[in-house]
Amino acid sequence: MEHDLYEMALAARLRAYAPYSHFLVGAALLSQSGRVFAAGNVENVSLGLTMCAERVCVGMAAAEGELRFQTIVIAADSPKPIAPCGACRQVLSEFCPELIIISYTLSGIKAEYGLGQLLPEANQGMLD
Ligand code: THU
Repeated sequence: MEHDLYEMALAARLRAYAPYSHFLVGAALLSQSGRVFAAGNVENVSLGLTMCAERVCVGMAAAEGELRFQTIVIAADSPKPIAPCGACRQVLSEFCPELIIISYTLSGIKAEYGLGQLLPEANQGMLD
């Protein structure tokens, strides 16, 4: 499954809209019911409005009524695996404080984090 998620993140990465940074990121978010939502980052000329790949995935899933997740796999062309930015950590935490985050470089270097480790002492969302 992790390999499938990686492949989906890679494919989504190629659909990223990143004409400003040219840094393409792909993510594939696995819901607890087994559905996958994959997306790339979506930038904007007003740079601060840029949406990271991870947050686009959450929006896609929420639009389909999926709010519970198990894993997100991220792929980017960086020397070391990237970790979600602070804003994405917060948004992911709303729905899954213990989400497993797996990040790959295109050369296959892998890192794995727990969201609880990346965003300790998070405020509780309204789910549950
Ligand atoms: N980006 C992501 O999509 N996910 C991350 O985890 C880190 C950063 C995007 C935002 C922006 O479009 C580009 O990468 C450069 O920061």
